[in-house]
Amino acid sequence: MTAAKKPVRRSQAWFGRNDRDGFVHRSWIKNQGYPHDLLDGRPVIGICNTWSELTPCNGHFRELAEFVKRGVYEAGGFPLEFPVMSLGETQLRPTAMLFRNLASMDVEESIRGNPIDGVVLLMGCDKTTPALLMGAASCDLPTIGLSGGPMLNGKFRGKDIGSGTGVWQMSEMVRAGEMSMQEFTEAESCMHRSKGSCMTMGTASTMASMVEALGMALPENAAIPAADTRRNRLAQLTGRRIVEMVNEDLRMSKILTRQAFENAIRTNAAIGGSTNAVIHLLAVAGRIGIELKLDDWDKLGSQIPCLVDLQPSGRFLMEDFYYAGGLPAVLREIRHLLNLDAPTVNGKTIGENIAEAPCWNREVIRPLAEPFKDKAGIAIVKGNLAPNGAVIKPSAASEHLLKHRGRAVVFENIEEFHAKIDDDELDVDETCILVLKNCGPRGYPGMAEVGNMPLPPKVLKKGFTDMVRISDARMSGTAYGTVVLHTSPEAAAGGPLALVKNGDMIELDVPARRLHLEVSDEELARRRAAWQAPEVPKRGWYKLYVDHVQQAHLGADLDFLVGGSGAPVPRDSH
Ligand code: FES
Repeated sequence: MTAAKKPVRRSQAWFGRNDRDGFVHRSWIKNQGYPHDLLDGRPVIGICNTWSELTPCNGHFRELAEFVKRGVYEAGGFPLEFPVMSLGETQLRPTAMLFRNLASMDVEESIRGNPIDGVVLLMGCDKTTPALLMGAASCDLPTIGLSGGPMLNGKFRGKDIGSGTGVWQMSEMVRAGEMSMQEFTEAESCMHRSKGSCMTMGTASTMASMVEALGMALPENAAIPAADTRRNRLAQLTGRRIVEMVNEDLRMSKILTRQAFENAIRTNAAIGGSTNAVIHLLAVAGRIGIELKLDDWDKLGSQIPCLVDLQPSGRFLMEDFYYAGGLPAVLREIRHLLNLDAPTVNGKTIGENIAEAPCWNREVIRPLAEPFKDKAGIAIVKGNLAPNGAVIKPSAASEHLLKHRGRAVVFENIEEFHAKIDDDELDVDETCILVLKNCGPRGYPGMAEVGNMPLPPKVLKKGFTDMVRISDARMSGTAYGTVVLHTSPEAAAGGPLALVKNGDMIELDVPARRLHLEVSDEELARRRAAWQAPEVPKRGWYKLYVDHVQQAHLGADLDFLVGGSGAPVPRDSH
C-alpha cells in the first residue's frame, strides 16, 4: 500500500526550498522565535487584521487575533498575523468609502504576495468587511470571516441608546431646542461604553450578518457582543476551522455562489439591514464572478418582511438580538425562502446550521406570521431622474411619504446644504423634496453618508420628523427616513440629478418603483447643454479613484479591480 501523498502547500514555495531563497524566507521569519518545524508544510494561516486605534470599532482586534491563533495552533496550522489598511467610519475623511477599494487592493496583494495557504479575515467597522471580502475574493484561497462583534447597548439616563441612530435623534432634538448641548455631550460616553462595532442594525451589524448569511463565517458570527467571552471562543473555533478548510481546499468560490448571494439579500430584508449592503454585495459578487444586479435586490428581497425590532427601524439593539437567538433564529424563521443547500465555511449547509436554531424572545425576533414590518426589503426606484436606479429602504421610511409629489429644494453640494438648511429664509416646507447633488462616487469623491440630510429647523419645529430626500449619496446604516439614495448615474457623472432646479416637481412612487422629474425632455436637453462637469482631482489615490470608479448600481468598485486573479505563487523576490 502506498502512503497518501502529503499535499504541497502554497507556502512551501517559500518555506519548503533547499536553496538560498528558502534560507532567506525561513531565516527572517525565525527572528520572531518560531521553531523550524512550524515551517514543515503545515497550513500557514494569514490573519488579516484591520486593528487600528483610529478604527475604534476594531480596537480589540489584536486581542481577538490571539484567540484565532490558539485555534490555528490547536488544529496543526501556523498562524501569521498581518495588518491591512483599516477604515474607521467615524474618523476617516472625506468618507471611509473612498478607501474601501484601496483597502481591498492592500488585502488582495498582501495575501497573494505572501506565504499564505488560508486566510482569516478580521472585520468590524463598516467598510472593513466589504474591503476584506473583496480583496480575498480576488485571490480565492480558503478563507473564513470573523467579525469583531457589536458593542454593548448604549445606556443614557436609564434608557438604551443606539449607535448612530441616537445621534441623529438627539442632534435633531438639539436643533429643535429640546435638548441642551451639555446633555448631548454627556451622552457621548454613555452611547459607546464598550469595545465593538455599532450596536444598532447599522452597516457593521448588517455586514456581519451578510457574512454569516453568505456562509462565510461560523454560525452566531453576526451578533455575539464584542465584550462577551463567547466572541473569543468563536475566534478560537474560527482558527481551528480555517486549518481544516485548507486541508479540504474549501475556497471562497465554493461558498460564494449565486445561491449564497440570494440568501444574503433575503436575509438583509428580514433583519431590516442597511442600504450599504447593496453596494458592498454587488462589489463582492463582481470580484468572485457572480452575476448580481441592482434589480436582484428588489426582485429577491423587497417582498420579504422585517422580523427584527432593532434600531434604526425599531426599538432593540444587537445585544438584545444576540440574547434572542441572533441571526440563526432569523434564518430559521425564513428558511423556506432560503437556498438551504448553500454550503458554508463549517462544511455544513446553511440549512443544517439553522435547523435547530432557537428563538428566546419573540419581541425582538418576530415570527414570520407576525412580522415587525411587512415587505421591508430594499426597493429600487427608476425613472428619468435615476435611469440606472436608486435605492430606498421602506422599513426605515414613513409610510405616508412612500407615494409623494413635491417641490424640489436643491443643494448643489453638501457645503451649500449646511450653509442654507438652518436659514429661516429658506423657501421650504414639509411637503418639499430636498435634493442633494454631487455626493456620489465621483462627486464627493467616495459617495459619502450624507443622504439622510437633517431637516430644516422650521419644519422640525412644526413637529414634522420626516421629509422625502433624494441624493446620489449613501446614508449611514444607522439612519432612517424617507431617503432615496445611490441615484445613478450620479450628478458629477452627468446624471439627470445634475439637472434638477429649485421649484421642479418630483414624483416618488415607491409602490410603482418610480422616480420622476416633471420636466420636459426638451428642457432637460437645454439644461444638459449648459451643464458643466465639476473639476476632478489631479493626483494620487483621489485621481485614480475618480478616473476608474464605477457607478453605484454596479457596486462602485474600480473598473480594473472587478474579477480576480487567483493566488498563483509570484516569481522570486531575490
Ligand atoms: Fe464603526 Fe459604526 S462606526 S461600526
